[in-house]
Amino acid sequence: MPTADTSAAPAAYRLPPGPKTPSLLNGIAFLFARNALIRRLTATYGDALTMRMPTFGTMVLVTRPDLVKAVYTAKPDVLHGGKNPLGEILGPGSLFSMDEDEHLNERRMLLPPFHGERMRSYESIIEEEALREMASWPEGVEFASIGSFQTITLRIILRAVFGAAGRELAELEKLLPPMTTLGQRLVTTPILRRDWGRRSPGARWKRMHAEYMRLAGTLVDQHLADPGLDERIDILALMLRALLAEGDAVDKSALADELLTLLVAGHETTASALAWSVERLRRHPEILHRLEEEARGDENALRIATAEEVLRVRPVINATARLVMKPFQLGEWTLPPGSRVVTGIAPLHHDGRFHERANRFEPDRYVDKKPDTYAWIPFGGGMRRCLGAAFAQFEIDVVLRTLLRSFELQPTSEPGERESFRGVAFAPSEGGAAVVRRRPFAAQAEEPESAAVMTALNS
Ligand code: HEM
Repeated sequence: MPTADTSAAPAAYRLPPGPKTPSLLNGIAFLFARNALIRRLTATYGDALTMRMPTFGTMVLVTRPDLVKAVYTAKPDVLHGGKNPLGEILGPGSLFSMDEDEHLNERRMLLPPFHGERMRSYESIIEEEALREMASWPEGVEFASIGSFQTITLRIILRAVFGAAGRELAELEKLLPPMTTLGQRLVTTPILRRDWGRRSPGARWKRMHAEYMRLAGTLVDQHLADPGLDERIDILALMLRALLAEGDAVDKSALADELLTLLVAGHETTASALAWSVERLRRHPEILHRLEEEARGDENALRIATAEEVLRVRPVINATARLVMKPFQLGEWTLPPGSRVVTGIAPLHHDGRFHERANRFEPDRYVDKKPDTYAWIPFGGGMRRCLGAAFAQFEIDVVLRTLLRSFELQPTSEPGERESFRGVAFAPSEGGAAVVRRRPFAAQAEEPESAAVMTALNS
Protein backbone atom coordinates (compact mmCIF):
# COMPACT_ATOMS: atom_id res chain seq x y z
CA MET A 1 0.00 0.00 0.00
CA PRO A 2 1.47 3.43 -0.96
CA THR A 3 2.27 5.74 1.93
CA ALA A 4 1.44 9.47 2.11
CA ASP A 5 4.01 11.61 0.25
CA THR A 6 5.26 14.01 2.95
CA SER A 7 8.32 15.25 0.99
CA ALA A 8 7.05 18.78 0.11
CA ALA A 9 8.23 21.67 2.32
CA PRO A 10 5.88 22.19 5.32
CA ALA A 11 5.76 25.94 4.56
CA ALA A 12 3.87 25.11 1.37
CA TYR A 13 0.96 23.86 3.46
CA ARG A 14 -1.80 25.99 4.94
CA LEU A 15 -4.47 24.57 7.20
CA PRO A 16 -7.84 26.12 8.14
CA PRO A 17 -8.10 27.62 11.67
CA GLY A 18 -9.27 25.54 14.62
CA PRO A 19 -9.22 24.94 18.38
CA LYS A 20 -5.91 24.42 20.15
CA THR A 21 -7.31 21.84 22.60
CA PRO A 22 -5.17 18.67 23.02
CA SER A 23 -6.08 15.74 20.79
CA LEU A 24 -7.14 13.52 23.71
CA LEU A 25 -9.76 16.04 24.87
CA ASN A 26 -11.02 16.46 21.32
CA GLY A 27 -11.20 12.68 21.00
CA ILE A 28 -13.21 12.27 24.19
CA ALA A 29 -15.59 15.09 23.24
CA PHE A 30 -15.95 13.58 19.76
CA LEU A 31 -16.73 10.14 21.17
CA PHE A 32 -19.41 11.30 23.60
CA ALA A 33 -20.95 14.40 22.02
CA ARG A 34 -19.81 14.42 18.43
CA ASN A 35 -22.73 16.38 16.98
CA ALA A 36 -22.77 19.00 19.75
CA LEU A 37 -18.99 19.47 19.47
CA ILE A 38 -19.14 19.90 15.70
CA ARG A 39 -22.04 22.37 15.99
CA ARG A 40 -20.03 24.45 18.47
CA LEU A 41 -16.80 24.36 16.44
CA THR A 42 -18.40 25.17 13.08
CA ALA A 43 -20.21 28.11 14.72
CA THR A 44 -16.82 29.41 15.92
CA TYR A 45 -14.47 28.57 13.05
CA GLY A 46 -16.70 28.37 9.98
CA ASP A 47 -16.95 25.96 7.06
CA ALA A 48 -13.44 24.50 7.24
CA LEU A 49 -11.66 23.90 10.52
CA THR A 50 -8.67 21.94 11.76
CA MET A 51 -8.49 19.88 14.94
CA ARG A 52 -6.08 17.29 16.29
CA MET A 53 -7.51 13.86 17.00
CA PRO A 54 -6.05 10.76 18.68
CA THR A 55 -5.01 8.12 16.06
CA PHE A 56 -6.45 10.32 13.26
CA GLY A 57 -3.84 13.10 13.71
CA THR A 58 -4.62 16.36 11.93
CA MET A 59 -8.24 16.41 10.83
CA VAL A 60 -9.83 19.06 8.62
CA LEU A 61 -13.61 19.21 8.79
CA VAL A 62 -15.50 20.73 5.85
CA THR A 63 -19.17 21.70 5.86
CA ARG A 64 -19.75 23.72 2.66
CA PRO A 65 -20.83 22.27 -0.71
CA ASP A 66 -17.95 23.68 -2.81
CA LEU A 67 -15.41 22.26 -0.32
CA VAL A 68 -17.28 18.95 -0.18
CA LYS A 69 -17.16 18.89 -3.98
CA ALA A 70 -13.38 19.40 -3.91
CA VAL A 71 -13.08 16.37 -1.62
CA TYR A 72 -15.40 14.10 -3.59
CA THR A 73 -13.92 14.96 -6.99
CA ALA A 74 -10.24 14.67 -5.94
CA LYS A 75 -8.19 12.09 -7.84
CA PRO A 76 -8.04 8.65 -6.16
CA ASP A 77 -4.25 8.90 -5.73
CA VAL A 78 -4.61 12.26 -3.89
CA LEU A 79 -7.24 11.19 -1.35
CA HIS A 80 -7.53 7.62 -0.07
CA GLY A 81 -10.24 5.95 2.01
CA GLY A 82 -7.18 5.51 4.16
CA LYS A 83 -6.96 2.96 6.96
CA ASN A 84 -10.68 3.15 7.54
CA PRO A 85 -11.35 1.46 10.91
CA LEU A 86 -14.21 -0.40 9.23
CA GLY A 87 -11.70 -1.89 6.78
CA GLU A 88 -9.45 -2.95 9.65
CA ILE A 89 -12.32 -4.85 11.19
CA LEU A 90 -13.85 -6.26 8.02
CA GLY A 91 -10.54 -7.45 6.54
CA PRO A 92 -8.23 -6.76 3.56
CA GLY A 93 -10.79 -8.07 1.05
CA SER A 94 -13.29 -5.33 2.01
CA LEU A 95 -13.94 -2.28 -0.23
CA PHE A 96 -13.28 -0.17 2.87
CA SER A 97 -9.64 -1.42 2.84
CA MET A 98 -8.99 -0.74 -0.87
CA ASP A 99 -7.82 2.28 -2.85
CA GLU A 100 -7.05 3.42 -6.40
CA ASP A 101 -7.15 0.68 -9.12
CA GLU A 102 -7.88 -2.17 -6.75
CA HIS A 103 -10.83 -0.22 -5.31
CA LEU A 104 -12.11 0.77 -8.75
CA ASN A 105 -11.97 -2.78 -10.12
CA GLU A 106 -13.72 -4.20 -7.08
CA ARG A 107 -16.49 -1.58 -7.33
CA ARG A 108 -16.98 -2.35 -11.02
CA MET A 109 -17.48 -5.99 -10.19
CA LEU A 110 -19.88 -5.25 -7.33
CA LEU A 111 -21.99 -2.53 -8.92
CA PRO A 112 -24.44 -4.43 -11.24
CA PRO A 113 -26.65 -5.99 -8.54
CA PHE A 114 -27.10 -2.60 -6.89
CA HIS A 115 -28.57 -0.82 -9.89
CA GLY A 116 -31.34 -0.86 -12.46
CA GLU A 117 -33.41 -3.88 -13.30
CA ARG A 118 -31.24 -6.27 -11.33
CA MET A 119 -31.84 -4.30 -8.15
CA ARG A 120 -35.58 -4.04 -8.81
CA SER A 121 -35.73 -7.81 -9.10
CA TYR A 122 -35.30 -7.89 -5.30
CA GLU A 123 -38.65 -6.13 -4.80
CA SER A 124 -40.59 -9.28 -4.03
CA ILE A 125 -38.02 -10.36 -1.44
CA ILE A 126 -38.21 -6.96 0.26
CA GLU A 127 -41.99 -7.00 0.38
CA GLU A 128 -42.12 -10.59 1.53
CA GLU A 129 -39.64 -10.05 4.37
CA ALA A 130 -41.44 -6.86 5.46
CA LEU A 131 -44.81 -8.63 5.57
CA ARG A 132 -43.34 -11.63 7.39
CA GLU A 133 -41.85 -9.50 10.16
CA MET A 134 -44.74 -7.03 10.42
CA ALA A 135 -47.16 -9.91 10.92
CA SER A 136 -45.91 -10.05 14.52
CA TRP A 137 -46.44 -6.33 15.26
CA PRO A 138 -48.68 -5.71 18.25
CA GLU A 139 -51.68 -3.38 17.86
CA GLY A 140 -52.35 -0.36 20.02
CA VAL A 141 -49.21 -0.63 22.17
CA GLU A 142 -45.97 1.23 21.71
CA PHE A 143 -42.94 -0.75 20.49
CA ALA A 144 -39.48 0.16 19.17
CA SER A 145 -39.69 -0.35 15.41
CA ILE A 146 -35.93 -0.52 14.90
CA GLY A 147 -35.68 -4.16 16.06
CA SER A 148 -38.13 -5.24 13.37
CA PHE A 149 -36.43 -3.10 10.74
CA GLN A 150 -33.10 -4.71 11.61
CA THR A 151 -34.61 -8.17 11.16
CA ILE A 152 -36.18 -7.16 7.84
CA THR A 153 -33.08 -5.48 6.39
CA LEU A 154 -30.79 -8.29 7.57
CA ARG A 155 -32.94 -11.00 5.98
CA ILE A 156 -33.18 -8.98 2.76
CA ILE A 157 -29.44 -8.43 2.44
CA LEU A 158 -28.71 -12.07 3.39
CA ARG A 159 -31.04 -13.32 0.67
CA ALA A 160 -29.78 -10.78 -1.88
CA VAL A 161 -26.16 -11.74 -1.13
CA PHE A 162 -26.45 -15.53 -0.77
CA GLY A 163 -29.77 -16.46 -2.36
CA ALA A 164 -31.31 -19.61 -0.95
CA ALA A 165 -32.48 -19.80 2.63
CA GLY A 166 -30.80 -22.77 4.33
CA ARG A 167 -29.12 -23.84 7.56
CA GLU A 168 -26.07 -21.61 7.03
CA LEU A 169 -28.26 -18.59 6.36
CA ALA A 170 -30.27 -19.22 9.53
CA GLU A 171 -27.00 -19.41 11.49
CA LEU A 172 -25.77 -16.17 9.88
CA GLU A 173 -29.06 -14.51 10.79
CA LYS A 174 -28.32 -15.30 14.43
CA LEU A 175 -24.63 -14.43 14.28
CA LEU A 176 -24.70 -11.10 12.44
CA PRO A 177 -26.71 -8.88 14.84
CA PRO A 178 -24.33 -9.36 17.83
CA MET A 179 -21.38 -9.23 15.44
CA THR A 180 -22.57 -5.88 14.01
CA THR A 181 -23.16 -4.43 17.49
CA LEU A 182 -19.73 -5.52 18.68
CA GLY A 183 -18.08 -4.43 15.40
CA GLN A 184 -19.48 -0.90 15.81
CA ARG A 185 -17.95 -0.69 19.31
CA LEU A 186 -14.58 -1.84 18.00
CA VAL A 187 -14.68 0.80 15.25
CA THR A 188 -14.88 3.68 17.74
CA THR A 189 -12.60 2.18 20.42
CA PRO A 190 -9.50 0.66 18.75
CA ILE A 191 -8.01 -0.49 22.06
CA LEU A 192 -10.86 -2.99 22.43
CA ARG A 193 -9.78 -4.73 19.20
CA ARG A 194 -6.86 -6.45 20.97
CA ASP A 195 -7.43 -9.89 22.42
CA TRP A 196 -7.21 -9.16 26.18
CA GLY A 197 -8.43 -12.60 27.23
CA ARG A 198 -11.34 -14.96 26.56
CA ARG A 199 -14.15 -12.64 27.61
CA SER A 200 -12.68 -9.46 26.13
CA PRO A 201 -14.47 -7.81 23.16
CA GLY A 202 -11.42 -8.50 20.94
CA ALA A 203 -11.49 -12.23 21.72
CA ARG A 204 -15.27 -12.39 21.22
CA TRP A 205 -14.90 -10.68 17.85
CA LYS A 206 -12.23 -13.21 16.84
CA ARG A 207 -14.53 -16.14 17.67
CA MET A 208 -17.52 -14.62 15.89
CA HIS A 209 -15.39 -13.76 12.87
CA ALA A 210 -14.01 -17.31 12.67
CA GLU A 211 -17.57 -18.66 12.78
CA TYR A 212 -18.62 -16.23 10.05
CA MET A 213 -15.67 -17.30 7.86
CA ARG A 214 -16.68 -20.96 8.30
CA LEU A 215 -20.30 -20.29 7.27
CA ALA A 216 -19.36 -18.01 4.36
CA GLY A 217 -16.79 -20.60 3.16
CA THR A 218 -19.46 -23.31 3.16
CA LEU A 219 -21.83 -21.08 1.16
CA VAL A 220 -19.10 -20.30 -1.39
CA ASP A 221 -18.39 -24.05 -1.78
CA GLN A 222 -22.10 -24.77 -2.24
CA HIS A 223 -22.33 -22.09 -4.94
CA LEU A 224 -19.26 -23.44 -6.76
CA ALA A 225 -20.73 -26.94 -6.69
CA ASP A 226 -24.14 -25.76 -7.95
CA PRO A 227 -24.69 -26.81 -11.59
CA GLY A 228 -27.22 -23.95 -11.82
CA LEU A 229 -24.63 -21.28 -10.85
CA ASP A 230 -25.11 -19.48 -14.19
CA GLU A 231 -28.82 -18.94 -13.56
CA ARG A 232 -28.51 -17.68 -10.02
CA ILE A 233 -29.05 -13.94 -9.45
CA ASP A 234 -27.69 -13.58 -5.94
CA ILE A 235 -24.69 -11.30 -5.43
CA LEU A 236 -22.29 -14.11 -4.50
CA ALA A 237 -23.14 -15.92 -7.74
CA LEU A 238 -22.57 -12.72 -9.76
CA MET A 239 -19.19 -12.22 -8.07
CA LEU A 240 -18.16 -15.81 -8.65
CA ARG A 241 -19.16 -15.69 -12.32
CA ALA A 242 -17.18 -12.45 -12.79
CA LEU A 243 -14.08 -14.00 -11.15
CA LEU A 244 -14.36 -17.26 -13.11
CA ALA A 245 -14.90 -15.38 -16.40
CA GLU A 246 -11.68 -13.40 -15.81
CA GLY A 247 -9.89 -16.66 -15.06
CA ASP A 248 -9.09 -15.39 -11.56
CA ALA A 249 -8.62 -17.84 -8.72
CA VAL A 250 -11.41 -17.66 -6.15
CA ASP A 251 -9.84 -16.25 -2.98
CA LYS A 252 -12.42 -17.44 -0.49
CA SER A 253 -11.14 -15.32 2.36
CA ALA A 254 -11.19 -12.06 0.31
CA LEU A 255 -14.64 -12.95 -1.01
CA ALA A 256 -15.90 -13.55 2.53
CA ASP A 257 -14.49 -10.15 3.65
CA GLU A 258 -16.42 -8.38 0.89
CA LEU A 259 -19.62 -10.24 1.58
CA LEU A 260 -19.33 -9.36 5.27
CA THR A 261 -18.88 -5.73 4.22
CA LEU A 262 -22.15 -5.80 2.29
CA LEU A 263 -23.96 -7.55 5.12
CA VAL A 264 -22.73 -5.18 7.82
CA ALA A 265 -22.86 -1.93 5.79
CA GLY A 266 -26.19 -2.90 4.30
CA HIS A 267 -28.53 -3.58 7.18
CA GLU A 268 -28.00 -1.45 10.31
CA THR A 269 -27.87 1.79 8.29
CA THR A 270 -31.07 1.09 6.36
CA ALA A 271 -32.85 -0.08 9.53
CA SER A 272 -31.92 3.17 11.29
CA ALA A 273 -33.23 5.23 8.35
CA LEU A 274 -36.53 3.31 8.50
CA ALA A 275 -36.81 3.87 12.27
CA TRP A 276 -36.20 7.60 11.71
CA SER A 277 -38.94 7.57 9.06
CA VAL A 278 -41.41 6.23 11.61
CA GLU A 279 -40.18 8.77 14.17
CA ARG A 280 -40.58 11.74 11.79
CA LEU A 281 -43.88 10.64 10.24
CA ARG A 282 -45.63 10.18 13.58
CA ARG A 283 -44.81 13.83 14.29
CA HIS A 284 -46.01 15.06 10.86
CA PRO A 285 -49.54 13.68 10.50
CA GLU A 286 -50.32 15.75 7.42
CA ILE A 287 -47.43 14.15 5.48
CA LEU A 288 -48.36 10.75 6.89
CA HIS A 289 -51.92 11.17 5.66
CA ARG A 290 -50.77 12.12 2.14
CA LEU A 291 -48.41 9.14 2.08
CA GLU A 292 -51.26 6.82 3.04
CA GLU A 293 -53.32 8.19 0.16
CA GLU A 294 -50.41 7.79 -2.24
CA ALA A 295 -49.74 4.20 -1.11
CA ARG A 296 -53.22 3.18 -2.33
CA GLY A 297 -51.91 3.51 -5.88
CA ASP A 298 -48.66 2.97 -7.76
CA GLU A 299 -47.24 6.49 -7.39
CA ASN A 300 -44.29 7.02 -5.08
CA ALA A 301 -43.02 10.58 -5.70
CA LEU A 302 -43.89 11.76 -2.17
CA ARG A 303 -42.58 8.56 -0.57
CA ILE A 304 -39.22 8.87 -2.36
CA ALA A 305 -39.04 12.56 -1.38
CA THR A 306 -39.90 11.64 2.22
CA ALA A 307 -37.04 9.14 2.41
CA GLU A 308 -34.68 11.77 1.00
CA GLU A 309 -35.88 14.31 3.54
CA VAL A 310 -35.52 11.81 6.41
CA LEU A 311 -31.93 11.20 5.34
CA ARG A 312 -31.35 14.97 5.23
CA VAL A 313 -32.78 15.90 8.63
CA ARG A 314 -31.65 12.72 10.39
CA PRO A 315 -28.58 11.41 8.52
CA VAL A 316 -27.67 7.96 9.74
CA ILE A 317 -23.93 8.41 9.11
CA ASN A 318 -22.73 11.87 10.02
CA ALA A 319 -19.30 12.11 8.39
CA THR A 320 -17.08 10.60 5.68
CA ALA A 321 -13.29 10.63 5.88
CA ARG A 322 -10.37 10.60 3.43
CA LEU A 323 -6.60 10.38 4.00
CA VAL A 324 -4.49 12.96 2.13
CA MET A 325 -1.77 11.16 0.11
CA LYS A 326 -0.42 14.09 -1.93
CA PRO A 327 -0.68 17.86 -1.22
CA PHE A 328 -4.39 18.60 -1.54
CA GLN A 329 -5.77 21.98 -2.62
CA LEU A 330 -8.95 22.66 -0.65
CA GLY A 331 -10.24 26.14 -1.50
CA GLU A 332 -7.67 28.60 -0.17
CA TRP A 333 -5.87 25.92 1.89
CA THR A 334 -3.33 23.26 1.02
CA LEU A 335 -3.50 20.16 3.18
CA PRO A 336 -0.37 18.10 3.85
CA PRO A 337 -0.11 14.38 3.14
CA GLY A 338 -0.90 12.37 6.23
CA SER A 339 -3.73 14.68 7.30
CA ARG A 340 -7.40 13.66 7.10
CA VAL A 341 -10.24 15.52 5.50
CA VAL A 342 -13.72 14.86 6.79
CA THR A 343 -17.06 15.99 5.34
CA GLY A 344 -19.56 16.87 8.06
CA ILE A 345 -22.84 15.47 6.81
CA ALA A 346 -25.11 16.60 9.66
CA PRO A 347 -23.91 20.24 9.88
CA LEU A 348 -24.15 20.62 6.11
CA HIS A 349 -27.66 19.18 6.05
CA HIS A 350 -28.83 21.55 8.78
CA ASP A 351 -27.32 24.70 7.30
CA GLY A 352 -29.96 27.29 6.31
CA ARG A 353 -27.68 28.70 3.59
CA PHE A 354 -28.00 25.47 1.61
CA HIS A 355 -31.46 24.24 2.62
CA GLU A 356 -34.43 26.57 3.11
CA ARG A 357 -36.05 26.17 6.54
CA ALA A 358 -33.28 23.63 7.15
CA ASN A 359 -34.53 22.43 10.53
CA ARG A 360 -38.03 21.65 9.32
CA PHE A 361 -39.18 18.31 7.97
CA GLU A 362 -40.59 19.19 4.54
CA PRO A 363 -40.48 16.27 2.09
CA ASP A 364 -42.15 18.43 -0.60
CA ARG A 365 -38.84 20.18 -1.15
CA TYR A 366 -37.71 17.04 -3.05
CA VAL A 367 -40.93 16.16 -4.87
CA ASP A 368 -40.02 17.83 -8.15
CA LYS A 369 -36.39 18.46 -7.42
CA LYS A 370 -33.49 16.07 -6.94
CA PRO A 371 -31.37 16.83 -3.88
CA ASP A 372 -28.16 18.73 -4.59
CA THR A 373 -25.17 16.39 -5.07
CA TYR A 374 -22.88 18.27 -2.68
CA ALA A 375 -25.38 19.74 -0.18
CA TRP A 376 -27.27 16.44 0.36
CA ILE A 377 -24.70 13.76 1.14
CA PRO A 378 -26.20 11.04 3.37
CA PHE A 379 -24.39 8.48 1.19
CA GLY A 380 -21.10 10.38 0.93
CA GLY A 381 -19.83 11.04 -2.58
CA GLY A 382 -17.40 10.58 -5.44
CA MET A 383 -15.62 7.31 -6.14
CA ARG A 384 -16.39 6.05 -2.65
CA ARG A 385 -20.06 7.03 -2.56
CA CYS A 386 -22.12 4.36 -0.82
CA LEU A 387 -22.26 1.35 -3.13
CA GLY A 388 -25.69 0.40 -1.83
CA ALA A 389 -27.31 3.87 -2.00
CA ALA A 390 -29.82 3.04 -4.75
CA PHE A 391 -30.52 -0.33 -3.15
CA ALA A 392 -31.10 1.28 0.26
CA GLN A 393 -33.47 3.90 -1.19
CA PHE A 394 -35.38 1.22 -3.07
CA GLU A 395 -35.57 -0.93 0.07
CA ILE A 396 -36.81 1.99 2.20
CA ASP A 397 -39.45 2.77 -0.43
CA VAL A 398 -40.81 -0.79 -0.57
CA VAL A 399 -40.74 -1.32 3.23
CA LEU A 400 -42.52 2.01 3.83
CA ARG A 401 -45.09 1.19 1.17
CA THR A 402 -45.75 -2.17 2.82
CA LEU A 403 -46.08 -0.51 6.22
CA LEU A 404 -48.46 2.19 4.95
CA ARG A 405 -50.64 -0.33 3.12
CA SER A 406 -50.81 -2.74 6.03
CA PHE A 407 -51.09 -0.42 9.05
CA GLU A 408 -52.37 2.88 10.32
CA LEU A 409 -49.43 4.51 12.06
CA GLN A 410 -50.68 6.55 15.03
CA PRO A 411 -49.40 10.15 15.15
CA THR A 412 -47.96 11.47 18.40
CA SER A 413 -47.44 14.85 20.05
CA GLU A 414 -44.42 13.59 22.01
CA PRO A 415 -41.20 15.56 21.43
CA GLY A 416 -38.90 14.15 18.77
CA GLU A 417 -36.57 11.29 19.72
CA ARG A 418 -32.96 12.23 20.34
CA GLU A 419 -30.07 10.81 18.34
CA SER A 420 -28.35 7.78 19.79
CA PHE A 421 -24.91 6.88 18.46
CA ARG A 422 -24.41 3.15 17.93
CA GLY A 423 -20.73 3.26 16.88
CA VAL A 424 -21.22 3.89 13.15
CA ALA A 425 -24.88 4.75 12.69
CA PHE A 426 -27.11 7.27 14.48
CA ALA A 427 -30.52 5.87 15.38
CA PRO A 428 -33.51 7.34 17.26
CA SER A 429 -33.02 7.03 21.03
CA GLU A 430 -36.37 5.23 21.56
CA GLY A 431 -35.76 3.02 18.52
CA GLY A 432 -38.41 4.79 16.41
CA ALA A 433 -41.30 4.12 18.81
CA ALA A 434 -44.39 3.05 16.87
CA VAL A 435 -48.08 2.49 17.67
CA VAL A 436 -50.02 0.81 14.86
CA ARG A 437 -53.45 -0.57 13.95
CA ARG A 438 -53.78 -3.21 11.28
CA ARG A 439 -55.86 -2.13 8.28
CA PRO A 440 -58.93 -4.31 7.77
CA PHE A 441 -57.95 -5.48 4.30
CA ALA A 442 -54.19 -5.30 4.68
CA ALA A 443 -51.98 -7.43 2.44
CA GLN A 444 -50.92 -10.67 4.08
CA ALA A 445 -47.62 -12.41 3.37
CA GLU A 446 -48.99 -13.28 -0.06
CA GLU A 447 -47.64 -14.84 -3.22
CA PRO A 448 -44.74 -12.61 -4.34
CA GLU A 449 -45.23 -10.53 -7.50
CA SER A 450 -42.38 -12.09 -9.36
CA ALA A 451 -42.49 -15.83 -8.84
CA ALA A 452 -39.67 -16.33 -11.33
CA VAL A 453 -37.29 -14.22 -9.29
CA MET A 454 -38.17 -16.08 -6.12
CA THR A 455 -37.59 -19.43 -7.80
CA ALA A 456 -34.19 -18.27 -9.07
CA LEU A 457 -33.20 -16.98 -5.65
CA ASN A 458 -34.36 -20.07 -3.86
CA SER A 459 -32.92 -22.61 -6.28
C1 HEM B 1 -29.71 4.32 4.46
C2 HEM B 1 -28.79 3.41 4.27
C3 HEM B 1 -27.34 3.71 4.05
C4 HEM B 1 -26.61 4.82 4.35
C5 HEM B 1 -27.10 6.12 5.00
C6 HEM B 1 -25.24 4.57 3.92
C7 HEM B 1 -24.20 5.48 4.03
C8 HEM B 1 -22.92 5.26 3.57
C9 HEM B 1 -21.85 6.23 3.65
C10 HEM B 1 -21.95 7.64 4.21
C11 HEM B 1 -20.75 5.65 3.12
C12 HEM B 1 -19.36 6.30 2.97
C13 HEM B 1 -19.30 7.01 1.62
C14 HEM B 1 -18.08 7.88 1.42
O1 HEM B 1 -17.05 7.66 2.08
O2 HEM B 1 -18.14 8.82 0.59
C15 HEM B 1 -21.10 4.31 2.70
C16 HEM B 1 -20.24 3.42 2.11
C17 HEM B 1 -20.60 2.15 1.72
N1 HEM B 1 -21.84 1.57 1.82
FE1 HEM B 1 -23.53 2.46 2.52
N2 HEM B 1 -25.18 3.30 3.39
C18 HEM B 1 -26.43 2.74 3.44
C19 HEM B 1 -26.80 1.49 2.96
C20 HEM B 1 -25.96 0.61 2.34
C21 HEM B 1 -26.35 -0.66 1.77
C22 HEM B 1 -27.79 -1.19 1.71
C23 HEM B 1 -25.21 -1.27 1.30
C24 HEM B 1 -25.02 -2.59 0.61
C25 HEM B 1 -25.91 -3.45 0.36
C26 HEM B 1 -24.11 -0.37 1.57
C27 HEM B 1 -22.80 -0.63 1.24
C28 HEM B 1 -21.78 0.28 1.34
C29 HEM B 1 -20.41 0.01 0.91
C30 HEM B 1 -19.89 -1.32 0.31
C31 HEM B 1 -19.68 1.17 1.13
C32 HEM B 1 -18.18 1.41 0.84
C33 HEM B 1 -18.03 2.07 -0.54
C34 HEM B 1 -16.58 2.29 -0.96
O3 HEM B 1 -15.72 2.48 -0.08
O4 HEM B 1 -16.33 2.30 -2.18
N3 HEM B 1 -24.60 0.75 2.19
N4 HEM B 1 -22.43 4.10 2.99
